[in-house]
Amino acid sequence: MTVKNMAALYGRSFLTLKDFSQEEICELVDFAKALKDMKKAGKPHRYLEGQNIALLFDKPSTRTRSAFTAACVDLGAHPEHLGKGDIQFGKKESVRDTATVLGRIFDGIQYRGFEHRTIETLAANANVPVWNGLTDIYHPTQVLADFLTIEENIGHLKTRRLVYVGDGRNNMATSLLIGCAKLGMDIRICAPGPLQPDEEILAYANRIADESGGRVMVTADVASAVKGVDVIYTDVWVSMGEEEQLEERINLLRPYQVNWAMLDATGNQDVLFLHCLPAHHDLETEVGKIVYEKYGLTEMEVTDDVFHSSHSVVFDQAENRLHTIKALMAATNGDFSGG
Ligand code: CP
Ligand code: NVA
Repeated sequence: MTVKNMAALYGRSFLTLKDFSQEEICELVDFAKALKDMKKAGKPHRYLEGQNIALLFDKPSTRTRSAFTAACVDLGAHPEHLGKGDIQFGKKESVRDTATVLGRIFDGIQYRGFEHRTIETLAANANVPVWNGLTDIYHPTQVLADFLTIEENIGHLKTRRLVYVGDGRNNMATSLLIGCAKLGMDIRICAPGPLQPDEEILAYANRIADESGGRVMVTADVASAVKGVDVIYTDVWVSMGEEEQLEERINLLRPYQVNWAMLDATGNQDVLFLHCLPAHHDLETEVGKIVYEKYGLTEMEVTDDVFHSSHSVVFDQAENRLHTIKALMAATNGDFSGG
């Protein structure tokens, strides 16, 4: 079992992709594959038997919450959901005190919220592994699922070309930038000037790309960014907590919608389309209807035909959240003495 090589991950938190080396990320993806096979074969993998895991959510979630919950149960642990308003967190009790208390009671903590500083304080004081289920600037567990999905569909990751199109400053853009640069991929962020990545994150990505043999490109020009890519990735134009910027984002990001013309411009007839979800691709949501009524758009970051096309692997990505989150929790907190 690959996990023997991952002893170095034991006891560690995962707040950003900066935390793990290239080898550790690749081993986690391999381990997730093995766990996926075990689940499909009905083989038990209860590496967290008897543990209690706290799942803290200050923002809503479908996939991350479901994946952490199901992963806990499959691994033999009890998941406890602590939602916004359920606990004193940051209101009547400091993040630091809450972290100390939760760490005395739980064996591991997942956190989804706003400021990244909050999860850093949690990790510094909890004395148990803390896993980032999304903050304003990072969404690292999503990228583990994306890597597994790309591998499953087109083999190896190194040297593969991935373009992220859209809000280049958000948590997905920064996480893909770091993760892909670390793995020696060719990562392109295609975004309008005001939404291009933060200088510090870009400098870090360039540094690690130099070490890994990867390549980083940031541009506002769609044609040069998408040319020859293996993967087109996009995310919502307005992330959680930024809802008041909707109109400004629509104006900036309309030319960056993923549609057939963009897929054609890649010149790759097998190009994959990825999206972390949820996505605005039709009028079947409340937000979709409001955007249509106010701005006349029937689709936002991706057209409905691309979303449902054979290029799209978005639901594989969603399922792979389960297997990769399971690998992460097991590798950092599991007991493998039973084999
Ligand atoms: N991709 C993702 O994190 O989805 P949720 O917001 O539903 O958890
Ligand atoms: N950038 C999005 C990701 C959702 C999974 C957000 O933060 O809302």
